[in-house]
Amino acid sequence: MKLKFAQVLAVTLSWGVLASHAYAAPDLTNGKQIDQQKCYACHAKKSGFSNGDMIYTRSDGKVKSISDLKKMVGLCNTELRLDLFPEDEADVVAFLNQQFYKFKP
Ligand code: HEC
Repeated sequence: MKLKFAQVLAVTLSWGVLASHAYAAPDLTNGKQIDQQKCYACHAKKSGFSNGDMIYTRSDGKVKSISDLKKMVGLCNTELRLDLFPEDEADVVAFLNQQFYKFKP
């Protein structure tokens, strides 16, 4: 009996964690970390500015809307096989938008 209760509790808890992750607001700190760990260095090299943020603020940037931004992040992710989970991708999009692009959601 005791064991059963523990099992039910465990399932309920993990379901709660999963569900709250799926519906939670984007995690900007996570997005920032991912950008710094996986994206910054390559952008710095590719843009030739030695600053990985510049690619997001260049005047001839290709990103003109929030959906362009999602597309670009998705492209860099799949193209380069960075293996981000969809939640992580959403966090990076949210971080980049808040920090650099400032599109209305
Ligand atoms: C191996 C190199 C590389 C990595 C790693 C990389 N990117 Fe990129 N990214 C590029 C290049 C090159 C461009 C410019 C593409 C172009 O001009 O067509 C770019 C452009 C972008 C742009 C568009 C910038 C603009 O405003 O024009 C976004 C947004 C972007 N990357 C997001 C990401 C994110 C988020 C990650 C990490 C999860 C990432 N990239 C990882 C190479 C990379």
